[in-house]
Amino acid sequence: MKMKMCSLLLFFLSALPSNISHSSYQSDHHTLLAFKNALSVDPWNALDNWSTNHTMTTCNWTGVTCSSRRKRVVSLNLTSMGLVGTISPFLGNLSFLRVLDLSGNSFEGQIPYQLGRLFRLRMLDLYRNKLEGSIPSQLGLLPSLEYVHLGVKNQLTGSIPSSLANMSSLTVLNLVNNGLQGGIPVELGMLTQLYWLNLNTNKLTGPIPTSLSNCTRLQILQIYWNNLTGKIPWEFGRLSEFLEQLELGYNYLTGIFPTSIDLLSTALSYLVLNSNKIGGHIPDEIANLTNLETVTFESINLNGTIPSALSQLPNMERLYLDINNLQGRIPTKFGHSKRLGSLDLSENMLTGEIPDSLGSLPQLRELYLHHNQLSGKIPASLGRCKTLQLVDLAYNKLTGNIPPGLPNLQFYFNVSNNLHLQGSVLEMSKMAMVLAIDLSVNQLLRWHSKSIGKLYRITIFKSFLERIWGTNPTIIGKSTKSSVLGSFTQ
Ligand SMILES: *[C@@H]1O[C@H](CO)[C@@H](O)[C@H](O)[C@H]1NC(C)=O
Ligand SMILES: *[C@@H]1O[C@H](CO)[C@@H](O)[C@H](O)[C@H]1NC(C)=O
Ligand SMILES: *[C@@H]1O[C@H](CO)[C@@H](O)[C@H](O)[C@H]1NC(C)=O
Ligand SMILES: *[C@@H]1O[C@H](CO)[C@@H](O)[C@H](O)[C@H]1NC(C)=O
Ligand SMILES: *[C@@H]1O[C@H](CO)[C@@H](O)[C@H](O)[C@H]1NC(C)=O
Ligand SMILES: *[C@@H]1O[C@H](CO)[C@@H](O)[C@H](O)[C@H]1NC(C)=O
Ligand SMILES: *[C@@H]1O[C@H](CO)[C@@H](O)[C@H](O)[C@H]1NC(C)=O
Ligand SMILES: *[C@@H]1O[C@H](CO)[C@@H](O)[C@H](O)[C@H]1NC(C)=O
Ligand SMILES: *[C@@H]1O[C@H](CO)[C@@H](O)[C@H](O)[C@H]1NC(C)=O
Ligand SMILES: *[C@@H]1O[C@H](CO)[C@@H](O)[C@H](O)[C@H]1NC(C)=O
Ligand SMILES: *[C@@H]1O[C@H](CO)[C@@H](O)[C@H](O)[C@H]1NC(C)=O
Repeated sequence: MKMKMCSLLLFFLSALPSNISHSSYQSDHHTLLAFKNALSVDPWNALDNWSTNHTMTTCNWTGVTCSSRRKRVVSLNLTSMGLVGTISPFLGNLSFLRVLDLSGNSFEGQIPYQLGRLFRLRMLDLYRNKLEGSIPSQLGLLPSLEYVHLGVKNQLTGSIPSSLANMSSLTVLNLVNNGLQGGIPVELGMLTQLYWLNLNTNKLTGPIPTSLSNCTRLQILQIYWNNLTGKIPWEFGRLSEFLEQLELGYNYLTGIFPTSIDLLSTALSYLVLNSNKIGGHIPDEIANLTNLETVTFESINLNGTIPSALSQLPNMERLYLDINNLQGRIPTKFGHSKRLGSLDLSENMLTGEIPDSLGSLPQLRELYLHHNQLSGKIPASLGRCKTLQLVDLAYNKLTGNIPPGLPNLQFYFNVSNNLHLQGSVLEMSKMAMVLAIDLSVNQLLRWHSKSIGKLYRITIFKSFLERIWGTNPTIIGKSTKSSVLGSFTQ
């Protein structure tokens, strides 16, 4: 009997590659069992075959990958398995581990500082869990770490450890949507391999460290929705080679618009600065950023005029300049922005006419010009712009008629509160395709009950009808299409 056991053991040993350390192999096995032991729920029995009976099959357990030679665990990938529990500190003993992916589960508690012993680790993916506590500064001891994602559903608090700057191979650091506080460590500027830094939606305070301008490989820099103060460092002009996305919106940044903007990478396609207190005017130099696709300068205290340069950027798709103090006219050159789909210039102090060229934009879907001081007529060209879905011209000083082409378009149309807009409502009665229209507070007269029958898909607003028919617009009820006119009484 004893003999038999012995030969069985010998058999197992001989089944292992000759040069592996049996004890280390067994230690990985025990570490994984300790990890499993710290789980409280495994809803789909994903780890059923992680069992003590199978010492020799550890490398075939769900989510486990071993090195081919030494049979040591090099990757643990248990993404999206519904697991609930804590991350066992024993994981720090998987000394050959290169990939740890526990994303998309419900791991709770702290990130064990023992992970700082996994000196071969290249990828640490713990995003979309329920982790709390602070980021262990020991992670900074991992020189091979290239990718760290601790974001999304976690609720990490405390400050970003400056030791992370010692992860000299780091290319991606994503801490989005946690509760991190304190300042952005100046030391992060040492991470010269970094191409994606995402600190969006935390509670970070203080200035944006100038040192980040030393991370010259940055392609994506996201720090929106924090409590940052101070200026956008002009040294960011140094991020001239690769930067594609710069998102600094929803902070308390001050100082005038960075004059180094023209030094930014011409690769920049996404520039989000909205909801800050930046101020100043949009520099002409923005013309150098020819790859801009999305520009969000909403609510940043801009003054001055809209530079014609901005209207000539060939790749612009979304341009939001609303809620500022912009003055002067809308540049006529917008007609050259062949890809422009969404233009929001609302809530400024723009004057002059709406340029006819806007109607020649082949992809324009949304046009917001409300709350300005625009005058003159609604350009007839809009009636030829077949892609339009929404036009909001409310609260301006527009005059004249609704142009004749508009009735054929299918869109949401708001021309309310243009006191002197007038003309033939008969024309509008042809607007069978218009989805909603707000004509309140202007002088569109000559309306009569016959014409309304054709407006069968239109939502007409009570205030408008009250003006025409007095306070009780029941006349509408006689329309044969009254059901679709239900919102009269709202
Ligand atoms: C492991 O062994 C135990 C006891 O020897 C047994 O009850 C269990 O069914 C075994 N599990 C598997 C997966 O073989
Ligand atoms: C692991 O699985 C593979 C294929 O499924 C098999 O060839 C191999 O023998 C198994 N190894 C162990 C140790 O069970
Ligand atoms: C454990 O389950 C996985 C997934 O079903 C399978 O690929 C693997 O071969 C199993 N390993 C063992 C040792 O049964
Ligand atoms: C983990 O596995 C999932 C699916 O099995 C895969 O999509 C993901 O890329 C893997 N993670 C790593 C780091 O290899
Ligand atoms: C593994 O890690 C745990 C916790 O960090 C520790 O208590 C234990 O002694 C380590 N060694 C082994 C062989 O499990
Ligand atoms: C990086 O590591 C060195 C040596 O281990 C240490 O002295 C230094 O404080 C670390 N840097 C940071 C920013 O923590
Ligand atoms: C950030 O600003 C918001 C709004 O002013 C405030 O409620 C919050 O307490 C601030 N957080 C920190 C960490 O300063
Ligand atoms: C950027 O790096 C250079 C050279 O390594 C260094 O001298 C400089 O102080 C760094 N700048 C900042 C703002 O950290
Ligand atoms: C524009 O704003 C800047 C900074 O807020 C200010 O210095 C400047 O005087 C303003 N210019 C005008 C024309 O209002
Ligand atoms: C564009 O950049 C070049 C060199 O970086 C500069 O000489 C030129 O003046 C810039 N043009 C504008 C309009 O800013
Ligand atoms: C039309 O625009 C005005 C001003 O922006 C707004 O108050 C009103 O609600 C809008 N009408 C509709 C139907 O949205």
